[in-house]
Amino acid sequence: MILIGPPGAGKGTQASRIEEFLSIGNLSTGALLRDAIASNSKLGKQAKALVEAGNFVPDDVIIGLVSARIEEPDCENGFILDGFPRTSGQAEALDRLLEKRGKKVDVVVEIKTEDDVVVERINGRFACKTCGEGYHKAFKVPAEDGVCDNCGGTEFEQRADDSEEKIRTRLALYHEQTAPILPYYESRGILRSVDGTKDLDDVTEQLKEVLAAVN
Ligand code: AP5
Repeated sequence: MILIGPPGAGKGTQASRIEEFLSIGNLSTGALLRDAIASNSKLGKQAKALVEAGNFVPDDVIIGLVSARIEEPDCENGFILDGFPRTSGQAEALDRLLEKRGKKVDVVVEIKTEDDVVVERINGRFACKTCGEGYHKAFKVPAEDGVCDNCGGTEFEQRADDSEEKIRTRLALYHEQTAPILPYYESRGILRSVDGTKDLDDVTEQLKEVLAAVN
């Protein structure tokens, strides 16, 4: 399953929920890159400036990451792709990677939102510094102020690419390079869409309905 949508559409939030619901792998290229940056690996050093400026990392780097990640055991029975593919080159490379492994894309879901909505969402987003659990100052606050619901951590952080200027760069790239790959999947009859402006639970229900129709 591929989730496509602009930054802040809710891809990461919904991928975590679907991962739990279906017990399949969850592959977020943004998260893989942030982990590589945090560990200061060679790849992380290459990607840092690009990611923090809101620009895309080159296709060959991303395809290499995805190719390795889908070999991991949690991906054996299927996986959700969040943030990949983002270019037509990545979409074509994914088909080749899957074909080699006797797999295919079952469904692509576009999470539809509006630019002003996602700017507000990203501006309010923060995460637990210890476990990475995501929050939003208006839409998802910890049950106890200043304490992570998941791990009890008390330190929180914002992503380096979440300033308004960088969000605008990321949105522009989405419209220029990622939205144009939707027809590639539409022509194969596997593109669906959900209304991402609804509340979190509503979007999850819409996704479950899409999945029920696939299985
Ligand atoms: P990535 O991490 O994929 O960032 P993104 O696509 O910009 O998406 P976000 O993580 O910002 O948003 P999201 O859609 O996951 O929304 P979320 O659920 O967090 O990529 C980061 C960077 O890595 C890229 O800019 C690029 O540099 C690089 N990169 C990654 N993949 C790449 C690739 N394939 N090729 C090249 N470069 C690549 O939700 C946002 C907030 O809104 C949260 O606070 C959430 O709680 C809230 N929220 C979500 N849904 C709702 C709702 N329905 N109602 C109310 N609040 C909501």
